[in-house]
Amino acid sequence: MKIAVLMGGTSAERDVSLASGVRVAEALRLRGHEVILIDTVVGRLGPTEEAALLAGGVLKSVPPDVHTLARLDRQLPTEVSALPDVDAVFLALHGGRGEDGTVQALLDLAGVPYTGSGHLASALAMDKDLSKRLFRQAGVPTPEWMMSPVTARAVEGVFGFPCVVKPSKQGSTVGLTLVRGANELPAALEHAREYDDEVMVEQFIPGRELTVGILGERALPVGEIIPVHEIYDYECKYTPGMAREVFPAALAGDESSRVQALAVRAFVALKLRGYARIDFRMSPSGEFFCLEANTLPGMTELSLIPQAAAAAQISFPDLCERIVELALP
Ligand SMILES: Nc1ncnc2c1ncn2[C@@H]1O[C@H](COP(=O)(O)OP(=O)(O)O)[C@@H](O)[C@H]1O
Ligand SMILES: [Mg+2]
Repeated sequence: MKIAVLMGGTSAERDVSLASGVRVAEALRLRGHEVILIDTVVGRLGPTEEAALLAGGVLKSVPPDVHTLARLDRQLPTEVSALPDVDAVFLALHGGRGEDGTVQALLDLAGVPYTGSGHLASALAMDKDLSKRLFRQAGVPTPEWMMSPVTARAVEGVFGFPCVVKPSKQGSTVGLTLVRGANELPAALEHAREYDDEVMVEQFIPGRELTVGILGERALPVGEIIPVHEIYDYECKYTPGMAREVFPAALAGDESSRVQALAVRAFVALKLRGYARIDFRMSPSGEFFCLEANTLPGMTELSLIPQAAAAAQISFPDLCERIVELALP
């Protein structure tokens, strides 16, 4: 097949996307496909640029700054609307317009099959407030939350401190703060607002961090993340050695199947397609709380879906190829 890997984008996860894109391209070529790489900002990448990305050094322990991204954002993603003739597009974009349904809608118009969820489902999953309403409706437990404007008094009246403040439509823990007391709330709200006008204040769930990959309609083995910091922040996500990832997670058999069933239910509730990764917290009393669904999860060698697939004896190239197959009509 002839496959275009779309990567880069202008979200805070731009660097992660570049790192995913080169790995996916390499894997698909290994399986005999003809692959072209397209950075949605720069255009088609040649062998020299690709080699430089593969050699590493793109992914730093902090995200690119908002001003640089805003500058890039003014360049239109022309390559997306003038795609060369390909059988499918592999979306290695993360966050922003690549993951929120915008690029998906463009590709629908272009009539090219693309990996992952469609535009509506992508938009729903990107919006944590809407996602949580649908989770609740489908019987998938999720932490209590409120949307801005929020006062410390209101927080105290509902779930109290500590709480988590985050932009409703962001990823990679960017703009997120664990708030321990009322005095820390205003700064956290302001920080989150740099990334999204809609800010969410959520009940803090102590305990363990779990993630469930879905491929097709099937849940992959559950993973547990043990970050060096109290929350799984950007640095822990993308710096080797800053988080321990355990696949399969050390859970009792019925706990694993329970959280896997909740993940499938969340996947269906948001009308997701192809693959996704659903994040959970597990409280000390053993209750599961769904945090969010990631429709275009990371595909670097450190990433969680590739590790979950490996635990199910699915190699990285097989995973990439299966994701493409699931995109075909
Ligand atoms: N309500 C919460 N309780 C405890 N930890 C949380 C909560 N919300 C977020 N976190 C921590 O922050 C990380 C990122 O939050 P998440 O909602 O998944 O947003 P993102 O889209 O940025 O990944 C989680 O993986 C978890 O470690
Ligand atoms: Mg997450």
